Amino acid sequence: MSGPAGDDNRVVELAGGARGAAGVRDRLTRPLRDLRISVMDRCNFRCPYCMPEDQYHKDFSFLKTSERLSFEEILRLTQIFAGLGVRKLRITGGEPLLRPNLADLIGDLSRVAGIDDVALTTNGMLLAQHAAALKAAGLSRVTVSLDSLDEKVFAAMSGGRGSPERVLEGIAEAINAGLDPVKVNTVVIRGTNDAGVLDLIERFRGTGVIVRFIEYMDVGTINHWKRADTVPSRDLVQRIGERWPLRAVDSNYHGEVASRYAFEDGQGEVGFVSSVTEPFCGTCTRARLSSDGQLFTCLFAARGTSLKVLLRSGASDAELREAITGVWRQREDRYSELRAKLRGDTGKVEMYYIGG
Ligand code: GTP
Ligand code: 5AD
Ligand code: SF4
Ligand code: SF4
Repeated sequence: MSGPAGDDNRVVELAGGARGAAGVRDRLTRPLRDLRISVMDRCNFRCPYCMPEDQYHKDFSFLKTSERLSFEEILRLTQIFAGLGVRKLRITGGEPLLRPNLADLIGDLSRVAGIDDVALTTNGMLLAQHAAALKAAGLSRVTVSLDSLDEKVFAAMSGGRGSPERVLEGIAEAINAGLDPVKVNTVVIRGTNDAGVLDLIERFRGTGVIVRFIEYMDVGTINHWKRADTVPSRDLVQRIGERWPLRAVDSNYHGEVASRYAFEDGQGEVGFVSSVTEPFCGTCTRARLSSDGQLFTCLFAARGTSLKVLLRSGASDAELREAITGVWRQREDRYSELRAKLRGDTGKVEMYYIGG
């Protein structure tokens, strides 16, 4: 593939590459490999760390249906992204299962040439009723957010919406449907749900479900994040390891976000996403598309580039490809690595709007 940034930082054909794919590199020579597509800005939860109820109240003005990209528009963009090197898609929200007929979109996306993996991130509330159809449509796997098994703590983390039982039902149906692997994402906030970490492991060890603990991050501008609220993954590794001895294992793929640990007794694995204490920007190959068609090159970006404007003004595929390539070539984001220096707000997009 292309060499260091500079003259080589251009779209290149991969000699003999899979399906004749092309690739594009950013200013830090990172290729474009993953596309995270938010299909819905609304959510049926009000997690205080993401969409606090006082800001996202009943009169909050979410996007109108016509402002969201249609399935046809998402498909067309995905085909272009796949031509630029994207291999993996993650469908996110808000809550993606609030988007009507999502399985139809998944079916179309899973058939795009070059796409190897289509995953979904959901809060699990609507998963039980949709899991089988999603699997049948071509969804590879699912990641379910579950911050606590304790009803009261769960309610504190979800803004009083939903219940752990219902999310557990969703997980069970996902397993039944053959989605594999099923992962659980737990955002750990000090003093709120960190006491329940071992319970979560106990519940899922030996079931094949992979629990991943996520360091609470300063995404967006409204969650009043403080560094002290983040529980460093290394502390959790130690705490869990004292109960169930752990062994670090290699990543599944280059640039995997979670660090993996296996239980020494063979009862599965646990992951840690440590974007605050051990940033992983160096291998970040992720682009994000908001539900109204803005392209973001970082979870912490302040601004996106509207692909919807191009789509709806009659741009050709070549023009869209050119626009995406131009954005990626200019990319030099590495927010998590610079976090300490950037303190004081840089103005950031909200997470519910572009997905996690
Ligand atoms: P796999 O494909 O299963 O490895 O999943 P993933 O880790 O790419 O996706 P997932 O959506 O489960 O990511 C887990 C969490 O990690 C997200 O919800 C975010 O909180 C965080 N995360 C994912 N990508 C990034 C990123 O590029 N930067 C930062 N800072 N955090 C990220
Ligand atoms: N810090 C870390 N993870 C977060 N998520 C949402 N907000 C934050 C935050 N501030 C997680 C969700 C979900 C995923 C999409 O992102 O809990 O698992
Ligand atoms: Fe919804 Fe997920 Fe945000 Fe919670 S973290 S409000 S479930 S989008
Ligand atoms: Fe990628 Fe931005 Fe996250 Fe760094 S902070 S890993 S550049 S999305």
